[in-house]
Amino acid sequence: MKKTHKIWIITLFPDFFESFLETGLAGQALRGKRGVDLSVELVQLRDFSESSYKGVDDAPYGGGPGMVMRPDILKKALWEGVIEKGQYGEDYKDKLHVVFPGPRGKRWNQEVCIDFSKRIWGEESKDLVFICGRYEGVDERFIQNYVDEEISLGDYVLTGGELAVMAIIDSAIRFLPGVLGNRESFEKESFNGGLLEHPQYTRPRTFEGREVPEVLLSGHHKKIEAFEKAESLRITRAYRPDLLEKE
Ligand SMILES: C[S@@+](CC[C@H](N)C(=O)[O-])C[C@H]1O[C@@H](n2cnc3c(N)ncnc32)[C@H](O)[C@@H]1O
Repeated sequence: MKKTHKIWIITLFPDFFESFLETGLAGQALRGKRGVDLSVELVQLRDFSESSYKGVDDAPYGGGPGMVMRPDILKKALWEGVIEKGQYGEDYKDKLHVVFPGPRGKRWNQEVCIDFSKRIWGEESKDLVFICGRYEGVDERFIQNYVDEEISLGDYVLTGGELAVMAIIDSAIRFLPGVLGNRESFEKESFNGGLLEHPQYTRPRTFEGREVPEVLLSGHHKKIEAFEKAESLRITRAYRPDLLEKE
């Protein structure tokens, strides 16, 4: 049976995802067009607010700048907009993995990404729910009660979780078998095997006085492979020596 994977995104800005879902390899994959039955459902958080102005945030207890996203409205969006709509039932925890991207989460990198992809879509075979934070963030009690995993893109602060969600999804779906064809294989890409990718060249053969390395024109596969390996090492040493120290 073909496995299906659904991704729910609770956000105040569903428009953010429009071109992401329509464009390129990720867009195709997320519309179920790359041999994997993937689909995305956007959930507008405001639809679950009962106030006349559709507010979803309030001032922080204890004072301080900015606003905080209310836990009761987030819970309603998760229950009605995801669990009930998707018919996950009482045992939804066995079928859904709720992710909150935020600065204190586990730092996203290729290793974490591969583990995430294999775990969620392989071993556990769960659907995903992403909560996009805005303002000063989300009430801690919602995170404690409903979030399974917190992920950080890096040590900086974004204005909202939408870009983080796109980066996480975009990088993780590449490890779903079937999404990348042979031509786009990740095996020779950066970080696979702990090195950066070797430099790439295409036409024209001469560009502003710089030539394509001769060996790449030789058609000698073994020599090309050896050259690319050496280049990969050279580039890693020059740009990211810390990757070599990890070995
Ligand atoms: C302005 S930020 C809130 C930052 C929060 N007040 C803090 O200092 O940690 C709004 C939202 O953007 C998202 N966000 C910000 N930085 C992020 C990062 N480094 N990785 C992932 N998501 C991030 C989170 O969802 C966060 O709730």
